[in-house]
Order: sequence, then C-alpha cells, then structure tokens
Amino acid sequence: KRNIAIMTSGGDAPGMNANVRAVVRAAIYRGCKAFAIMEGYEGLVRGGPQYIKEMSWHDVRGYLSEGGTNIGTARCMAFRERAGRLISCKHLIEAGINALIVCGGDGSLTGADLFRAEWPSLIQELKDTNEISLEDFNTYKHLNICGTVGSIDNDMATTDATIGAYSSLDRICRAIDYIDATANSHSRAFVVEVMGRHCGWLALMAGIATSADYILIPEKPSSSKDWQEQMCTIVGKHRAKGKRKTIVIVAEGAITSDLQPISANDVKDVLVKRLGLDTRVTTLGHVQRGGTAVAFDRILATLQGVEAVKAVLDVTPDTPSPLIAIEENKIVRKPLVEAVKITKSVAEAIQNKDFEKAMSLRDSEFSE
Ligand code: F6P
Repeated sequence: KRNIAIMTSGGDAPGMNANVRAVVRAAIYRGCKAFAIMEGYEGLVRGGPQYIKEMSWHDVRGYLSEGGTNIGTARCMAFRERAGRLISCKHLIEAGINALIVCGGDGSLTGADLFRAEWPSLIQELKDTNEISLEDFNTYKHLNICGTVGSIDNDMATTDATIGAYSSLDRICRAIDYIDATANSHSRAFVVEVMGRHCGWLALMAGIATSADYILIPEKPSSSKDWQEQMCTIVGKHRAKGKRKTIVIVAEGAITSDLQPISANDVKDVLVKRLGLDTRVTTLGHVQRGGTAVAFDRILATLQGVEAVKAVLDVTPDTPSPLIAIEENKIVRKPLVEAVKITKSVAEAIQNKDFEKAMSLRDSEFSE
C-alpha cells in the first residue's frame, strides 16, 4: 500500500479543493494513507508534520465547491534549485511518502517532472552523505508522481481543459455582463483585460460568450498597424449599425508580431484617438481566480483526482509519470514529460516569432 500525498502549486484555481478531496478520499478508499503537502513546493522544502499532514476522510468535508485551495499554494523559488529538491526528497522519505500527486499549472508540473527525473540521483546523494539509511534508500528507490492540471489559464498541452479554466471563464463573462449595462447606458467603449499569461484561451472564449467586438490574443499577433486598422474598421461598422456599446477583450499576454506587448491602455488610446469613443479600461485581475468552482470544474477535478490515485497505484518504475488529462470528454492518462515538453516548445516558438510552429504545435496536440 502506498502513502499518497497531494499538493496544490502555482496560482490557485477553483476546483483545486475538489481535486484534493477526491485524492484524499480515493486514496483512503483504496486502503492507502493520504497526506496533504501544505503551501505547495514550499511545504516540501520546509518539511515536518506542520507541512506534511496526514488527512482523514472528514478533513476534506466541504471542499467540493470551495474556491481557492485550502491546503495553500506558493510560487516557490527554493524548489527551482537542486538543493531545494534534495531537501524535499529527504522530507518526503521522512514522512514515509512514496507517491506524489501535484495539482498545478505548467510551471508546477515542469517542477514535478524534473523532481521525478532527478529522484534516483537525489536519493543516491542522500544515502552517500548518510542523510538516509540504506533501508530507506531501498524502500524509496522510486517516487511515483502524477500531475493533475490546475490552472485558470488552460495553457497545458495534451489536455482540453485545465481545472479552474471554466470557473474563471464564468467569472469573466459575468463581469462583462455587468460592464455591458453601463457601457450601453453611456454609449461607451470598454477595454477589458483578462488573465491567461501567454495563453489566449480565456480571452478567446470570453469573446465568443459575450459577443465582444474585438479580441487580442497572443496566439494571433499582427503588426501594430494591422490590428489597429482591423479593430477600428470592425468597431466602426458596429457603431454605424447603431450599437451603443463596444467591448474589446485583451489577453494579458497579447503581443504584436514583433513581440511588443499590447496593453489595455494602448487599445484604449486607439479607440479614443481614431474613433473618438469615450473609453474606459477594466482590468479584472484576481476576481477571475476567485469564487466557487462551476459544476464542470467540480466534476473534472473529482474524476481526475480519482484517476490520479489509480494511476500512482498502477505506475511501475518503467512506466512514464502520467498527467491526468481530459480529451474529447474522456479522462485519460498522458505522459507528463511529453505534455511539459510541448507546452515549453509552444512558448519557445512564440519567443522565436515562429507563430506558425506555435500554432501547429497547439493544433497537433488536438489532432493527436
Ligand atoms: O497562472 C494563473 C495566473 O492567474 C495568470 O493568469 C496570471 O498571469 C498569474 O497567474 C498571476 O499571478 P499572481 O497571482 O502571482 O499575481
């Protein structure tokens, strides 16, 4: 039987609590002990019973719908260094944990993948320096790791949806519905900046769901001249047809084809100067990450938590660490290494201005 730990890492996302609940209860149901690592990788680096806590069935009561993550999260710098991962390895062994489930975004899962790959050398070093006994060295030779993707950004390759993305999308749509009323009353334009880091999924989907006039996303950059021209033509047409409100959604990662960031204020200036529209900027900020999880995220997080426990019990030293994904409405296992690699390649292709490659990488993960 395994001692299975769950941690949440990176930016919190609605549904992370549901994932923790599912992992804890599925682990106990299968006769394992369940643990929570508090404060993400920070808790692993610090170690001890304050940060690595055994969880009972009742400890996660009420978690299903709650927003945020009750076991805490952090963006941990120490874990990025080998020394941080070495001490984390020791702390896991001290707590008797031999399977780890990480619910987080691409950065957190990249960390998990690195930890898994380094584990043999970390444990060897701990044995050579007498930090662990020979018995522990033999007992903890393999750490089973599994990723469940929790992030509002929906930016992880090989999964159709990340836990939290639909809740965040719901928050954005509600906010824009509110803005609509005041925009319409004053016949104003609003430029709404939404999160998503380097991914435009939230902006794109919110644009469709609120019938925004124009959206700017990192995946479809054009020259400054082109986007300004196109936006003004479209907004101008809508206004000519009698539309009293204008909504432009800007992804926080929106860029021009020469990689210059496009800010909400840049967009506002164009609407004011070229179309003479009375324009306001609304940056939704962390409101997008708050609140309870929508039904889809509760279900996704629960099914993925149950599958993650099954996966860590199935994985042998020779099977690659899995990432629990959703593909065409089915909960599936994907190789964690592969998902991290594709996600990184997309970011690199954008950095190298190779937008075609970035798009084809995103397309290929869907057509696989
Ligand atoms: O990754 C989730 C996210 O909300 C991004 O959309 C955003 O860029 C970032 O985290 C904000 O980070 P922080 O909460 O640390 O300011």
